Amino acid sequence: MLKDRRILLVIGGGIAAYKSLDLIRRLRERGAHVRCAVTKAGQEFVTPLSIGALCGGRAFTDLFDVQSEFDVGHIRLARDTDIVVVAPATADLVAKMAGGHADDLASTVLLATDKPVLLAPAMNPRMWDNRATQRNVEQLKADGRHFVGPNTGEMAEANEAGIGRMAEPLEIVAAIEGLLASPAAAGPLAGRHVLITSGPTHEPIDPVRYIANRSSGKQGHAIASAAARAGARVTLISGPVHLPDPAGVHVVKVETAREMMQAVEKALPADVGIFAAAVADWGIDAPGAQKMKKGRSGPPQLSLTENPDILATVAARKSARPRLVIGFAAETENVIEHARAKLQRKGCDWIVANDVSPQTGVMGGDRNSVHLVTGAGIESWPQQSKDAVARALVAKIAAALS
Ligand code: CTP
Repeated sequence: MLKDRRILLVIGGGIAAYKSLDLIRRLRERGAHVRCAVTKAGQEFVTPLSIGALCGGRAFTDLFDVQSEFDVGHIRLARDTDIVVVAPATADLVAKMAGGHADDLASTVLLATDKPVLLAPAMNPRMWDNRATQRNVEQLKADGRHFVGPNTGEMAEANEAGIGRMAEPLEIVAAIEGLLASPAAAGPLAGRHVLITSGPTHEPIDPVRYIANRSSGKQGHAIASAAARAGARVTLISGPVHLPDPAGVHVVKVETAREMMQAVEKALPADVGIFAAAVADWGIDAPGAQKMKKGRSGPPQLSLTENPDILATVAARKSARPRLVIGFAAETENVIEHARAKLQRKGCDWIVANDVSPQTGVMGGDRNSVHLVTGAGIESWPQQSKDAVARALVAKIAAALS
């Protein structure tokens, strides 16, 4: 997909810049042409020499450099590309972009470009959480800029952890592919709207407590990514998860099953509905307005009420029913038997059944082994990564719609 695509990589000044060298290599392996602009601060972490050697050309460093203006010129650098990727996007670069500054080559190119821009932020978690940074990120999103990451994890600084790690090179590659997978690129789902639910739901007990489940959202988010890469317009309705928003996907964040139901209704019509969320079957009847206190009368009796079944509701719609309604079945025993029964009961077209018993490591893990249950029969797929399951499912969907 990246063969002969032109990518301008802007490297900012952060420790994560070393990963950008690997990113250049990964992009070129896939046949992309990569040009690099590196900020002054970026050159403190990676040298123009190593960047130039990896991208097979010179690294662009200065706005007022006669040679590079003669070679390409900053306006051509900004326009003569299919996409601009900023990695690492430091707090300073994010702020400059949000404010429209143009006082060096990188910021000038970013202001002058008319191409999609993808940012891979990398910074200390406190800088990321700072309201100024969050304001700038919101502004850039409103301006139509795209983001991949940041991820959660250990920081370069000792004993620091939190959200702020730059996305890994292959995640950035996937995000670039997602953004470049426009209908013009004629992916197999080009022109289709795919609606996906993902993650758990949280059902409040009182303002500080909730009922939840162990769903990580990894499988649903992977499907959203794969569908976007296949050219679909994707709406991902997600419960609370610790995952970055997939690139090129419209993400609607919800908390409870009822909110998820409403968001799904609002997002219809869709060509395909994929219901991968682990929706809580029950919510609390009347969540407390205040934090419950430990009383003398012993533990509280929680009265539960059944939540709407989102999948069954959509599958039963008379109007605006997606052509293909796909449910998931998370089972711990008699997987296929339960999945078959669920296909009937929910009225959907396919069920993706997986064994989520603790020993399988599926819940929260990166791999999955699924059975695809349809009216035509059952296919058992080998154990593979959740990304591979997502790609295979998207390929099946594309074939079914064509
Ligand atoms: N589902 C839904 N809304 C609910 C419950 C489940 O949309 N309130 C969807 C899930 O997203 C999944 C499918 O229904 O696609 C099956 O979910 P699962 O939890 O396995 O089934 P349940 O209906 O909850 O059945 P049970 O818990 O009895 O196995």
